[in-house]
Amino acid sequence: MKKRTIFLIDDDKGSLELLSMQLEADGVDVKSESNGDRALMLLNDQTFDIVITDLMIDKVDGIQVLKKVKEVSPKTEVIIVTGHASVDTAVQAMKLGAFDYINKPINMGELNIILQKAFQHQSLVAEVKQLRSQVKDYYRFVDIIATSPNMQKVMGIVKRIAGSNATVLIEGESGTGKEVIARAIHNYSTRSKGPFVAINCGALPETLLESELFGHVRGAFTGATATKKGLFEEAEGGTIFLDEIGETTQAFQVKLLRVLQENEIRRVGDTRDISVNARVLAASNTVLRQLVDEDRFRQDLFFRLRVIPVYIPPLRERREDIVPLAKFFIERYCERTGRVVPKLRKETLRKLETCSWPGNVREMENAIERSMILADGDELTAEDLLIESYSDGKTGYGFVNMSMTEVEKIHIEKVLEDCGWNQKEAARRLEIGYNTLWRKIKEYKIERA
Ligand SMILES: Nc1ncnc2c1ncn2[C@@H]1O[C@H](COP(=O)(O)OP(=O)(O)OP(=O)(O)O)[C@@H](O)[C@H]1O
Ligand SMILES: [Mg+2]
Repeated sequence: MKKRTIFLIDDDKGSLELLSMQLEADGVDVKSESNGDRALMLLNDQTFDIVITDLMIDKVDGIQVLKKVKEVSPKTEVIIVTGHASVDTAVQAMKLGAFDYINKPINMGELNIILQKAFQHQSLVAEVKQLRSQVKDYYRFVDIIATSPNMQKVMGIVKRIAGSNATVLIEGESGTGKEVIARAIHNYSTRSKGPFVAINCGALPETLLESELFGHVRGAFTGATATKKGLFEEAEGGTIFLDEIGETTQAFQVKLLRVLQENEIRRVGDTRDISVNARVLAASNTVLRQLVDEDRFRQDLFFRLRVIPVYIPPLRERREDIVPLAKFFIERYCERTGRVVPKLRKETLRKLETCSWPGNVREMENAIERSMILADGDELTAEDLLIESYSDGKTGYGFVNMSMTEVEKIHIEKVLEDCGWNQKEAARRLEIGYNTLWRKIKEYKIERA
């Protein structure tokens, strides 16, 4: 651990030396000064854990020292040493933020107790500060489940690009969480205190999209009865999220490219440019490069948007997220409705895990909520799960898009359960050796529910 540092200030050189020696013997790093002005100067350059100051150091007032310390290093604690006559000043010092005061001549036992308290107080303050920042971190991401290595990678990128102002292109199938990630990028960035403005570019015709984004002046078109700021201006100092960017027209793309290059917008019908400061995030659920190849999206804009590419894999390629997401949605539903969180049977989890989820996280979220409304027991059974894309009711497995290993693991689990975890019997039914079964149980980390 780092040595604690104490700065001693007293114009009585004799007592300064004595105290200094005693504290050093206790393993503290001590600096001492008998000149008030020099002490004030030193406080500008160096910080200490604790400052112990006399109330009168020739011409310099101890209160002055206290004020200085609190100004340059608020977390340094100050202990005031007083003569018997100056209790009033000591009280005043306490009001100004001194940690404690001690009478002259200094009793080492008493001083040690005060020092212990001060050090303890400082560690507590540091701990609280650290916990606060952890809590803040926790709340920033409380709504994002990212258990799978694939999503961990995405979150890694989100954190790494936090300090950057670069444009990000987020790609992923519908419902994978592109908007969730866009918000996370904003929340993690230095712009997090600024606004986050999202717009679905696919939902609006070209002219309307332009006036939404860039604003318009009065009389720019029929119905423009007043001048209106656009979203780029609303997002000043923050982030603007352009969703479904692949759905825009080429004419619009030209205009957007110009905005990105110049950091300036022009309101519809206006003649002057307005400079804007908004970080741009864009998203697309079709592979934008493909649209470029098909001449449906401008290549120059594509490159301008894709400074940092973020790809969110479909849910079927990150099955480790399925169970945590399910639990998260169920708990959230129960919290909202005041219901008791139902138990999840293994079959229920397996059904969730084996579904192909073409609508990704959004489909799963909806499926869970629907099922929760209809299921009323204290368990959510596989039958309770209403999954539209789950067609293979016969076998109970939806093997679509699963690897051989995944299928094997699930099949072994099912057989083991069917024969009550009698491994000899399971091996016989699976037509594999007992040792092979044992090895696979270890390898796949299959556990009895
Ligand atoms: N990792 C995640 N953790 C928790 N909830 C998530 C996660 N990813 C997505 N969701 C939830 O799933 C739903 C869909 O997410 P989002 O709207 O971000 O997807 P999207 O990719 O933008 O979809 P679309 O392409 O349809 O616009 C939202 O309700 C969101 O809260
Ligand atoms: Mg979206």
